[in-house]
Amino acid sequence: MITRTVSIDENAIINEANILSEAAEIIRSGELVAFPTETVYGLGADAKNQEASKKIYAAKGRPSDNPLIVHIADICQLEEVASEIDDNAKKLAEQFWPGPLTLVLPKNKDIPYATTGGLDTVAVRFPSHPIAKALIKQSGRLIAAPSANASGRPSPTMASHVYEDLNGRIPLIIDGGQVGIGIESTIVDCTSDIPVILRPGFITSDMVKSVCGQCEMDPGIVSSDAKPKAPGMKYRHYAPSAPLTIIEGDRDNVVSYINFNLSKYPREKVGIITTDESKDFYLGGQIISVGSKSDEASVAHNLYSALRQMDQLNVEVIFSESFTSSGLGEAVMNRLLKAAGHQVIKV
Ligand code: TXA
Ligand code: MG
Repeated sequence: MITRTVSIDENAIINEANILSEAAEIIRSGELVAFPTETVYGLGADAKNQEASKKIYAAKGRPSDNPLIVHIADICQLEEVASEIDDNAKKLAEQFWPGPLTLVLPKNKDIPYATTGGLDTVAVRFPSHPIAKALIKQSGRLIAAPSANASGRPSPTMASHVYEDLNGRIPLIIDGGQVGIGIESTIVDCTSDIPVILRPGFITSDMVKSVCGQCEMDPGIVSSDAKPKAPGMKYRHYAPSAPLTIIEGDRDNVVSYINFNLSKYPREKVGIITTDESKDFYLGGQIISVGSKSDEASVAHNLYSALRQMDQLNVEVIFSESFTSSGLGEAVMNRLLKAAGHQVIKV
């Protein structure tokens, strides 16, 4: 299959009717389209067509027990996806949709098990990205979309990342430029009285608490020993090819540790994930700054791209600085720890 990439200017979507109607037609015909959202690129298919959902799993090499997120473009569509919408879900949707929040709810019977990985619950999100919204609307369908990476690789934040992973496996990639947030949506399970965060993201636990009065974290994302409730969170994920170790401690100690280890390898084979504040202290290696330590949004925005760049640089080993784990930092550290297979050295 030939994979075509077409660019759309998200600010001039009105001029892009032709390509959007072509993309919508591809979705209606049961094929796949990759498209940008505000979090990461998604790989979309008609959510009610089980053959189309199966194509997503095949293209990504994704285990079939890992459910997809159903995307909507109008709050009225929520009833088509979920059979019960409790008060917490209503409040969260009102406050944060359209946006980087996914709700887990009891599924409507029309959503096939091929889309929910066999579960009786369904994950649903109303994205805010103009291209995502336009595609869902034009297709007239609910769009099931996981992140548009090959299974196990970091989620794509640019169309070129999608092409790298899925070239030859899907007919169309809509290129809307680099996404804004850079890590996947927050997933909140609303199937019991207290909302539970299954995957941290841009919407933090404090933000959920401020709307619902309470909020818990799934033990499976807090400790690497417990089994996560979101099936996808149990897989090794977001991982670059070379082993990644997080070095945690005061800046001077971290820099000394990494500089000392530099001497053990050819310098160009050592990847260093750092920040603007400390990047000049390293004596060599492939140094990539992911932004400012005081601005977690910049780190979220650049992290996956940095992990992919490390693969392209063919490094043998990667060291990363650690980040704060409050607010958005919680989501950043969750992804970094998974990429590192929880290998942390405290210095
Ligand atoms: O930001 C995002 O959420 C992106 C964009 C494209 O919207 N999508 C995304 O999808 O990250 P994906 O498939 O890569 O991650 C979906 C996660 C997986 O960890 C999956 O196990 C979990 O959501 N999930 C889906 N349905 C679920 C359900 N019914 N119960 C628990 N977890 C669920
Ligand atoms: Mg994913």
